[in-house]
Amino acid sequence: MFTYEMPTTLFFGRDCIAQSGAALARLGKKALLVTGRHSAKVNGSQQAVVDVLEALHISWVVFDEVESNPSIETVRRAAAIGRAEQVEFVVAIGGGSPMDAGKVIALLCTNELDDTQLFTGPYNNALPIVAVPTTAGTGSEVTKAAILTNPHAGTKQSVADPLIFPTLSFADPAFTLGVSESVTVDTAIDAVSHAVEGYMARTATPVSDVWAEEAMRFLGSQLPALGGPLTYDAREDLMYGSTLAGIVIAQTGTTLIHGMGYPLTYYKGLTHGRANGILFPQYMKYMSETMPDKVDTIWELLDVSGLAEFTALMKQLMPDTVVLTQEEIDQFTKLTMPTKAVQHTSYDVTAELVAHIYGTLG
Ligand SMILES: [Fe+2]
Repeated sequence: MFTYEMPTTLFFGRDCIAQSGAALARLGKKALLVTGRHSAKVNGSQQAVVDVLEALHISWVVFDEVESNPSIETVRRAAAIGRAEQVEFVVAIGGGSPMDAGKVIALLCTNELDDTQLFTGPYNNALPIVAVPTTAGTGSEVTKAAILTNPHAGTKQSVADPLIFPTLSFADPAFTLGVSESVTVDTAIDAVSHAVEGYMARTATPVSDVWAEEAMRFLGSQLPALGGPLTYDAREDLMYGSTLAGIVIAQTGTTLIHGMGYPLTYYKGLTHGRANGILFPQYMKYMSETMPDKVDTIWELLDVSGLAEFTALMKQLMPDTVVLTQEEIDQFTKLTMPTKAVQHTSYDVTAELVAHIYGTLG
């Protein structure tokens, strides 16, 4: 048997907020806008939301201090404002960090949770969440997970519960037109890893595979263009692919690439997409031995000839090298092994294998 759960109502396409923003009216009369410091103000997303709120006579307060890889302290500070202002829903605008922060803030507005319970639950309810992605990668606009930095665990960890599926999501590719080439690469590779990992996860289902194949087709069509200027149509393909890939991981969860990538971000400062990109070739190498048929389909959908070309492409897009000390390899392996990401991976992941991969990233 399998389950398919996707309760988010998605509006996709240029000007979707102006066209369909009236759907916000049923969520309440006061909103907390959660975003980062800059990009939502310059790419038009925050103004598009504000225009609709004004037209609907919904009041709002802004929390615009979400940093990359948001901290527990940040989401608590925003939730305190949300509670004091008695907001009725949260509108999270931005890349993965503001959207993930917004989801946790929606939980903290309605639940008393200490720093452990924040990650484990149980949660009683959450304020309705509206997600407005401004990068094409995270897929957070259609998932039930949020990733926070957890200093108690010494890595990034996920808060996951169906309560934090956004109620509404507005994915307008026009908001990504000004995203830098380097962030576009990072986020696109994150989206590719979501589609590929979900496709090969132990938790893959017949329905998630349909979305994964479609996501790879759209993302793959734009791989050769990454690293250069992109047209609106290319941006639309990337956002469509990343949203479909989000629907995939909402069903399957992520696997070894994400599990091993979090310590690289936490301790070595690599962006999430870059951490994934560096781990990707070795992951595919082991997957080619475990699921050769599915891997052949992946190469076909991504329009690459095989592992050698894919490895060269990752190196070209992400020339970063990471050399870890033996102590770091041991520490990161210890952090990776107990994660759900390892359980979801379709081969038996041993500590020796994880340590070997960490030891040969350069
Ligand atoms: Fe990711």
